[in-house]
Amino acid sequence: MSKVKEGEHLVQQGRTSYEWARSHMQILDNTIGRLKDKKPLEGVTLGFCLHITKETSVLLMGAKELGATVACCGGNPLTTQDDIAAFLASEGIHTYAWNGQTPEEYDWCIEKVLEHKPSILTDDGADMNIKAHFDPRFANLKILGATEETTAGVNRIRAVKEQGKLRYPVILVNEAHTKHLFDNRYGTGQSTIDGYLRAMNLLLASKRVVVAGYGWVGKGVAARCKGMGSRVIVTEVDPVRALEAHMDGFDVEPMSQACRRGQIFITCTGMRDVITREHIEQMPNSAVLGNVGHFDVEIDTDYLLNQSASVREVRPNLDECTLMDSKKKVYLIGKGRLANLVAAEGHPPEVMAQSFSNQILSILYILENHKSMGTTITDVPADIDKQVARDALAAMDVQMDSLTPEQLKYSHSW
Ligand SMILES: NC(=O)c1ccc[n+]([C@@H]2O[C@H](COP(=O)([O-])OP(=O)(O)OC[C@H]3O[C@@H](n4cnc5c(N)ncnc54)[C@H](O)[C@@H]3O)[C@@H](O)[C@H]2O)c1
Repeated sequence: MSKVKEGEHLVQQGRTSYEWARSHMQILDNTIGRLKDKKPLEGVTLGFCLHITKETSVLLMGAKELGATVACCGGNPLTTQDDIAAFLASEGIHTYAWNGQTPEEYDWCIEKVLEHKPSILTDDGADMNIKAHFDPRFANLKILGATEETTAGVNRIRAVKEQGKLRYPVILVNEAHTKHLFDNRYGTGQSTIDGYLRAMNLLLASKRVVVAGYGWVGKGVAARCKGMGSRVIVTEVDPVRALEAHMDGFDVEPMSQACRRGQIFITCTGMRDVITREHIEQMPNSAVLGNVGHFDVEIDTDYLLNQSASVREVRPNLDECTLMDSKKKVYLIGKGRLANLVAAEGHPPEVMAQSFSNQILSILYILENHKSMGTTITDVPADIDKQVARDALAAMDVQMDSLTPEQLKYSHSW
């Protein structure tokens, strides 16, 4: 196939995937439909640093339909779906993303987006916001505000705020109930199983699976593994969450112990050095390791990929690492980067519709309210969160009760 034909084929494939995702993202589609005629984002440039997936393409096309000029880059060097990037570029969205970037290329793409002078940034992990704050080349950008999609980014933005260096308001979309309770838990829960199965295609039933971290992501992953028949061991550092995992019926152990028994490992902590060289050396032969936390710092991938006697890719996104001294074989999924996005396609559309409805409504909120927001970090306003929940219930054709006037009065009486 000629290069031109190949490109056209990629665009068409991306368009079909976009249409498939959009037809399952009714909440977001309805939100865009409600606002479309008013073109509330006319004249506004938006900068997005997100995993470029079919679901993200629905958000970006929606922003364009609301009148925005849109520039985007990937939120990770390995998670861009190239057909989607090609489709977005063909639709006039300034797209700086392809799969398999070097760290330098990844950085360059973020800079290209900032060169479009976006007035609102939407980030996943805070890489774009950190650049907008600390790279002197972007010190004069007039940014009205930003939104942050994930826990790792929220933690970084909080650190910037604590140091008194926040330059504009940031809405923490991850903190919306209709985001982390569903996206982090059900979205990552399902797509992690998908990623692990695509990478290794081994039986999950009967396997001892070690889930590191029992936060929103860890709870979803542990529950889904249990549902597949795995024997799940949880590691934690927070006593309340360790207790919760124990009460939910999981074995809770320190990693120093769990590493000797586990056959499959899934890190979900957002913390560095969760699985170290010492842990890896004690693992049984054939252990499979992967990470679904935002950054690739949870597993000592340097030890596995650079200090093993040999490394070979035995299946797509699965490296067999033969350890130097013991000659034990340990398998690493997706180089230790987000296994659910690298080895699979990330969260399913229905759940991303909720997250991205929060995103689009938060962007509009910033546009209207940035002057009164100051340099604050705020949660998604409760009425937006509730509206997204109502829209999601309606999309799933679920009805619920509402308080009678008497009940309302009762709830406010002492
Ligand atoms: N893969 C995805 O698609 C996806 C989706 C959402 C979030 N994330 C990322 O996943 C990570 C976790 O997100 P979350 O929402 O569950 O966060 P969270 O804060 O709710 O949970 C993290 C948990 O890890 C525990 N933890 C910290 N250090 C630990 C250690 N050394 N050992 C064991 N446990 C430890 C914490 O106590 C906490 O309970 C973040 O990096 C987030 O950005 C990824």
